[in-house]
Amino acid sequence: MKFRIAPSVLSADFARLGEEARAVEAAGADLIHFDVMDNHYVPNLTVGPLVCAALRPHLKIPLDVHLMVTPVDALVPQFAKAGANLISFHPEATGHVDRTIGLIHENGCKAGLVLNPATPLSCLDHTLEKLDLVLLMSVNPGFGGQQFIVSVLPKIAEVRRRIAASGKSIWLEVDGGIKVDNIAEVAKAGADTFVAGSAIFGSRDYAATLREMRSRLAML
Ligand code: DX5
Ligand code: ZN
Repeated sequence: MKFRIAPSVLSADFARLGEEARAVEAAGADLIHFDVMDNHYVPNLTVGPLVCAALRPHLKIPLDVHLMVTPVDALVPQFAKAGANLISFHPEATGHVDRTIGLIHENGCKAGLVLNPATPLSCLDHTLEKLDLVLLMSVNPGFGGQQFIVSVLPKIAEVRRRIAASGKSIWLEVDGGIKVDNIAEVAKAGADTFVAGSAIFGSRDYAATLREMRSRLAML
């Protein structure tokens, strides 16, 4: 299985965002995870399309935009224009999930659905085959640096089974509390794409941390 690591710039130094993103790209990141929070869907406020557009020219790797906002649709074309490659949203944050997935595709991006720890998998029933990625939250969204919720592990395994049954190459990304010490367990459960914010940006040597994460994955 091909594994991807997506450092979340939520834990980067925002005063030096371009430099920080370039540093993790040089350190071997596969994607940059960009957390958008609106102080409405989640109790925190971060950055929007303007900052995404400013960051884009600093990077070659794809930008993985995680929208923690409601409503969703008006922001989709704005993030596509700002250089997003993947756009993921929470189903309860939009009135019409199928329409939002279509809108993301019409804007030339890959579409992801994000499930919170307590969101049932039934929301994949009529959507999975249209998705490019499923993003499972392993913390409640809103903040970096939280503890991984272990009860999400069987949920990852169940989504992996559903993806396998679909016969499609849909990515299974997990977000929240991923560290060097638990990344292998998350991979074993079935994830192929790993978001890590504080574990990478909170470390002194980004390349060493990414290398250590990859070596844990290589041992599987
Ligand atoms: C939380 C965000 C995460 C966060 C992960 O709402 O969606 O992407 O940055 O941070 P860590 O890896 O520190 O849990
Ligand atoms: Zn995120």
